[in-house]
Amino acid sequence: MIRTFGPGRVNLIGEHTDYNGGLALPFPIDRGVTVEAEPAGGGEIHADARDLGERDVFAAAAPERADGWRAFVRGTVAELRAAGIDVPGARLEIRGDLPAGSGLSSSAALEAALCLALLALADADEPDRVELAKLCSRVENDWVGAETGLLDQLAALCGRAGAAIRIDFATLDIAAVALELGGWRLVTLESGAQHSHASGGYNERRAECRAACAALGVEHLSLADPDEAERLPEPLRRRARHVLTENARVDAMVAALRAGDLEQAGRLLDASHASLRDDYEVSVPEVEAAVATLERAGAAGARMVGGGFGGSVLGLLRPDGLVPAGARAVAPGPPARRL
Ligand code: GLA
Repeated sequence: MIRTFGPGRVNLIGEHTDYNGGLALPFPIDRGVTVEAEPAGGGEIHADARDLGERDVFAAAAPERADGWRAFVRGTVAELRAAGIDVPGARLEIRGDLPAGSGLSSSAALEAALCLALLALADADEPDRVELAKLCSRVENDWVGAETGLLDQLAALCGRAGAAIRIDFATLDIAAVALELGGWRLVTLESGAQHSHASGGYNERRAECRAACAALGVEHLSLADPDEAERLPEPLRRRARHVLTENARVDAMVAALRAGDLEQAGRLLDASHASLRDDYEVSVPEVEAAVATLERAGAAGARMVGGGFGGSVLGLLRPDGLVPAGARAVAPGPPARRL
């Protein structure tokens, strides 16, 4: 029996920058998705989503389209086969401790755990992890219908224990940035509003960014000249401003962490949230309420994580800060792995 684990992720800062050729600073967490896999005859994949009490059966050689969690499993099998991996018939048991829609990327956790399990079953060498992240991203884009970027998959597959990773999405350069918080703590708090990237505003934001790039004649928004971006029509002007200021905040956060200036780290979280709320317009009332809860608890800073429109909020608590009811401490754990 093969057991693999794919972690969820928290993005410290750098939101909606991945598909704009920008910067982000995520880390994998200790919660995620576990897959148990055994070979099965007959060339079929039998997948059992234990938390949902649902099953799926399909031909490993020719997965067909499906919705919900099934799209992730079928898509992962199909993309591995398209990459030349001879995925055999298998029984898969899937369990997780990250609720779907919590904004901590249960989907990348699932894709990463599935990939590692199916590669091991096929007795194939693990490909380069950046390539594997791209493969997982194709599952989201082509099978699930979410035009997400590479942030979640790179965090789940390329993270380093004890560190956040600074990703430059223009080059896919990845550098570890030690996350030494002393007595300070990072916590997540669920807003209670679930989000889905395959529907709603996420794909709309992507379309707006494409329109802004076309108007400015740049390949991606991180290349935009800030003065020219200020002359774009609304809402494209504010979308571009978010991306450009958020990239700057990522490097400001790296500098604050290196200097051990966690008050400044908190201010950057607040500034990122304000930009996501006002310029990128991806907040909802439940997310605002969760940020307010963390602020009342004395957080040095708090912001939404992930795509927005719901999901979780991240807070940075000072050493004397009490963890508010419902919030959970998060720390950088190891990336996806075989257990
Ligand atoms: C979601 C997507 C990522 C990224 C974030 C926003 O988590 O899956 O690709 O775009 O939203 O930063």
